[in-house]
Amino acid sequence: MCTLFLLIVLTSVKSVLCANILYVSSIPSPSHHIWNGVLTMALVKRGHNVTLVDPDIDKLPKSDNYTHIFLEGVYESLDISYDLNDMASYSPIRMSIEFQNWCTFGCNKILRSEGLHNLLNYPPDFKFDLIIVDVTSGPCLYPLIHRFKYPPTIAVTAFLLPSYVSYNFGNNMYPTSIPWYGLPYTADMNFVERTFNVLYMYIDTASRYLNQYRREHDITKKIFGENIPSMEEFERHMSLVLTNTDPILDYPQPLAPNFISVGGLHTHRSNELPPDLKTILDNAKNGAIIFSLGTNIRSDKLDKRTQRALIDAFSKIPETVIWKFESDIENLPKNVIVRKWLPQNDALGHPNVKLFIGHGGALSTQESFYHGVPMICVPFIVDQHINAKLIIEKKLGLSIDFTRITSGYVLQTVREVLDNPVYFENVRRLSRIYKDKPQTALEKAVFWTEYVIRHGGADFLSFPGRNYPYYKVYGLDIILFLLVIIILILLIVYKIINLVLNLLISKRKIKVN
Ligand SMILES: *[C@@H]1O[C@H](CO)[C@@H](O)[C@H](O)[C@H]1NC(C)=O
Ligand SMILES: *[C@@H]1O[C@H](CO)[C@@H](O)[C@H](O)[C@H]1NC(C)=O
Repeated sequence: MCTLFLLIVLTSVKSVLCANILYVSSIPSPSHHIWNGVLTMALVKRGHNVTLVDPDIDKLPKSDNYTHIFLEGVYESLDISYDLNDMASYSPIRMSIEFQNWCTFGCNKILRSEGLHNLLNYPPDFKFDLIIVDVTSGPCLYPLIHRFKYPPTIAVTAFLLPSYVSYNFGNNMYPTSIPWYGLPYTADMNFVERTFNVLYMYIDTASRYLNQYRREHDITKKIFGENIPSMEEFERHMSLVLTNTDPILDYPQPLAPNFISVGGLHTHRSNELPPDLKTILDNAKNGAIIFSLGTNIRSDKLDKRTQRALIDAFSKIPETVIWKFESDIENLPKNVIVRKWLPQNDALGHPNVKLFIGHGGALSTQESFYHGVPMICVPFIVDQHINAKLIIEKKLGLSIDFTRITSGYVLQTVREVLDNPVYFENVRRLSRIYKDKPQTALEKAVFWTEYVIRHGGADFLSFPGRNYPYYKVYGLDIILFLLVIIILILLIVYKIINLVLNLLISKRKIKVN
């Protein structure tokens, strides 16, 4: 009976829910594709029909209810020869501007791609029940909401919670207590740091609207028609945002009700490793180190001197090092093994892995935290610096400044993290606390996605101030008004005192006379 009842409930839930979902992402970054892919597959497993549109070559498993539309040619056209030393030396403002330019450059290519035009050629009355938009790199694909006649829409970002997303969806940016993603600060900022943090956060957010949004509105108009509304209006149509944050993994911060934090949704228990890698890790009796600089930064692009310093340091330790290195390399010590690609999440879960050396990107860091592996960060750009600072502050590991890499420096840092138990204990504790919750991040993301489908949107969760101008939300006009009143009162008091004094003085003069 029970089984029968359950079956009925399950099938009826399913039939209510099966939705046709369009999932669009304009950011050319393989790690964001992985994150979006995990959510996509979870939705497909729930019986939804998902069409994922992004600039990445598809690596997700084939499935009847999953279609990938490839926005081809974006990676090739972006300048892939970005010099690491150059990028690392950008000033914060330059970094912010370069990031926006990079997004618009990619947008130009996306608008000309065959993939997008295939999607635009869907029958005019083709109906999606929900659109999911990755908002990390800006508004390039927002007009698809217009093309498909404004179904309920939600936003996602794997880029933690950047301040511009906070601002767009009606949250306080906390510029004096949450470090801006482009600065190497912790939450504990001194007066000078807070001043810079406030300035950069506002300049970055404002220039996004005044610069990137307008620019991309102009170029998308040519494809989607002159009468599309402003990008800000599209953004207001998105009722909630799934952010890759978690109060345990990042700085806890108060969030408006339409912010759903699903930090680390891509992390999961290790799957079976490929046999060769499994043998290597099983046999690593002295422990193993995983070394990978992620998907955007290639180890083989590090200069030769840095590569030699790293190899020299690794040759002096007994642990096995598994290094994600994208081309061939010779004369490696016996304990250093290179692989062009690593199943990073699965490898980190192997019990012999004692340390993860990475670039401090958000997704890798979360995997390392999830599996309770201490880290050494080698940060290069954007949020990698604050992630590294947080790791040092919470004593979950250390960082290495890649511009100063020497063999001795690397060796000393590696030994400290491996031999001082404090890092291991802290990260194990963090991992336990992170996992202790009523539903996993992925289940939470799926729940809220279906919630929006069930209720045809979730506008009712948005803070009213989200649509007000900034001065109104933060009462800047009122502060100004009160200041004027105070100044007026002070002026009047001053005049009265002056008058009284004058009177007294003139009376005295009269008496004297
Ligand atoms: C595929 O999606 C459709 C609705 O979009 C749904 O009716 C069907 O059950 C789904 N199939 C599977 C195998 O989940
Ligand atoms: C599922 O999505 C594909 C690709 O967008 C589309 O061609 C197909 O018609 C959709 N199926 C349903 C049942 O909506």
